[in-house]
Amino acid sequence: MNLHQKVALITGGSKGIGLAIAESMISHGMKVAITGRNLESLYEAQKSINSESLLIIESDTKHFESNQKAVDLTLQKWGCIDVVIANAGVGYFKEVDQISIEEWNNTIEINLNGAFYILKASVESLKKSKGYYITIASLAGTNFFEMGAAYNASKFGLVGFTQAAMLDLRKHDIKVSTIMPGSVSTYFNDHTPSDADAWKIQPEDIAQIVLDLLNMPARTLPSKIEVRPSFPHHKGK
Ligand SMILES: NC(=O)c1ccc[n+]([C@@H]2O[C@H](COP(=O)([O-])OP(=O)(O)OC[C@H]3O[C@@H](n4cnc5c(N)ncnc54)[C@H](OP(=O)(O)O)[C@@H]3O)[C@@H](O)[C@H]2O)c1
Repeated sequence: MNLHQKVALITGGSKGIGLAIAESMISHGMKVAITGRNLESLYEAQKSINSESLLIIESDTKHFESNQKAVDLTLQKWGCIDVVIANAGVGYFKEVDQISIEEWNNTIEINLNGAFYILKASVESLKKSKGYYITIASLAGTNFFEMGAAYNASKFGLVGFTQAAMLDLRKHDIKVSTIMPGSVSTYFNDHTPSDADAWKIQPEDIAQIVLDLLNMPARTLPSKIEVRPSFPHHKGK
């Protein structure tokens, strides 16, 4: 894909991985719409990127209508959508008997339903552009762990959903991939990134994987990418 002037829509782009993907895309000549629930965070992202190639949209991915609004506003501004990244995600890490109904529903509605909703809202545009749909899943989509029941359920589901969608959508010349990172230094789960996170994957490293996918020859589709820190043994050093 020639990235120049191509249009991307990223759910959950005001912080962390989504923001790094937006920055990297814009620095490669793309136009990018990002969503988020908190308007202040979106304004901060806008200030830090400071580019006319960025559009911020207040939108909660757990509601289909909000995803439709994000797609409509992006099309209104730029007329097409070439890349959609379902990135927004949350995690509540508790023993299974301690997870509330609200936490369970939030996890599934944002991490899994949201990824389907943004695809549902944008798929006709992606057919026209012969575009790319990428989900940000997790190694938690293949490795289960204690206190991960809700998060594991959402990410196992997301990986399965993305792989099946890939088989359907490649018939329409839409590429589909899921990226499954291990620990990334972000604000996820109320974390504040610090020097102690140096051993983790950095958000810009995930952005580089996204750009590498977009730059793959059209005939080739890396559909599922697991990515982990190289030096977990440096943790705490
Ligand atoms: N960090 C890791 O170690 C790691 C590892 C593997 C996978 N992941 C996945 O990577 C994705 C991005 O996480 P991150 O680490 O970058 O976290 P982050 O730093 O907390 O950023 C999350 C972003 O998503 C937005 N968001 C959250 N819920 C949303 C919703 N319902 N609708 C729209 N936007 C929403 C947040 O803004 P608002 O809160 O203002 O909405 C924020 O911009 C998630 O799917 C996560 O599961 C993260």
